[in-house]
Amino acid sequence: MLFPVTYRVNAAGHMEVGGCDLTDLARAHGTPLYVYDEETVRQKCREYMAAMGSAGHVLYSAKAFASPQFLRIVAEEGLGLDVVSAGELHIALKSGFPTDRLHFLGNNKSWEDIDAAYRAGATIVIDGFQEFGVLERIVPDGKRAPVMLRLSPGVKPDTHDHIATGQLDSKFGFSIESGAARRAVEQALAHPNLELIGLHSHIGSQIFALGAYEKAMAIMLDLLVQLHDELRYEPRMLGAGGGLGIAYTSQDDPPTPRHFVETIRGALDAGCAARGLKVPQLVVEPGRSIAGPAGVALYTVGSIKDIPGVRRYVAVDGGMGDNIRPKLYGARYEAFLASGPDRPSEAKVTIAGKYCESTDILITDIEMPALETGDVIAVPAAGAYCLAMASNYNGMPRPEVVMVRDGDARVMRRRETLDDLLAAELF
Ligand SMILES: Cc1ncc(COP(=O)(O)O)c(C=O)c1O
Repeated sequence: MLFPVTYRVNAAGHMEVGGCDLTDLARAHGTPLYVYDEETVRQKCREYMAAMGSAGHVLYSAKAFASPQFLRIVAEEGLGLDVVSAGELHIALKSGFPTDRLHFLGNNKSWEDIDAAYRAGATIVIDGFQEFGVLERIVPDGKRAPVMLRLSPGVKPDTHDHIATGQLDSKFGFSIESGAARRAVEQALAHPNLELIGLHSHIGSQIFALGAYEKAMAIMLDLLVQLHDELRYEPRMLGAGGGLGIAYTSQDDPPTPRHFVETIRGALDAGCAARGLKVPQLVVEPGRSIAGPAGVALYTVGSIKDIPGVRRYVAVDGGMGDNIRPKLYGARYEAFLASGPDRPSEAKVTIAGKYCESTDILITDIEMPALETGDVIAVPAAGAYCLAMASNYNGMPRPEVVMVRDGDARVMRRRETLDDLLAAELF
């Protein structure tokens, strides 16, 4: 599914999401504009929650996209939240996110991060040996902080190298293969201020081939047998991470959230039965597959440059400042003319951004209908890791963000002003 679930072409022949005509939204709010469809967010959350049932917990991964109104919807749907910094935690707390459903991850947490996580009552997912010492100083005598350990199961999923995390050569987690995981468990169990409630893993992102999760689960469960036999330790929770891929182009056909959860649950249940282990609660933490399909980015066409026999550049009013993914890991997108998505293609064009970098290209070589300056272009599947990684490069204010539902568009984040660019500067 490339578009949000409420997407349709309306009577005017325009693209519509959440009952709102995208050309009207662009006119009313300006561009670049990020449009989130509330129904898509809720449906994705519900699909995860229904598939999980009472077998465990679904946490939304705030790094994909976090804003107070968005997080409130996620909380209403009953999900927990995974955060990776005191900043993301701050957004969650200010949004009123229930604190009993927070997990705090990160491969190099600062003292401030760990202190904030402990004070918020979050489950801290320890990622390196130095965190044991920090926690000993932060957690008062006689108290125990609930923690998990992030393990690296040594599985390399079928995804871009830059978003694979579970292999041996990774900055994340205690490696099972090297023996670090086993040592970390021993250290956590002996620690006076920690309650080791579980073990966690996350093998990567934008994954379509779910077999990698089954492999990772088998490796984790083999470790559990060792921990049970040698240390008498059985985790209450086992984390399989997030990482389910989404469709960025009409050729992409990713598994559904239900399929993702059912595959991992199947591997967990069967793997525990085969090894005589008690089945722990499963934790998954999807980000992209909840926020990604819900978001559509709108841009306005500005300059059009023809280099005969070479290429036609169609420049839009955003680019790498609001969506770095094409440059960061070669992400491929599709674009549509908001006032006529079904119009026949006229030419192959390259959609360029407005940032002063030759590499600021959103989409290379895409068939588009005839385009003119002032046309609005819609890029679907833009809800995750776009705004979350947005910058003010070139002194460009970050875009406005709206949430649409039943013909109504609520501003979630206003467009930044030029003065916002100076908000932290001292004169
Ligand atoms: C530890 C962890 N959990 C969950 C996620 C969310 O992954 P995704 O957005 O691909 O579902 C990430 C993303 O990189 C992550 O690092």
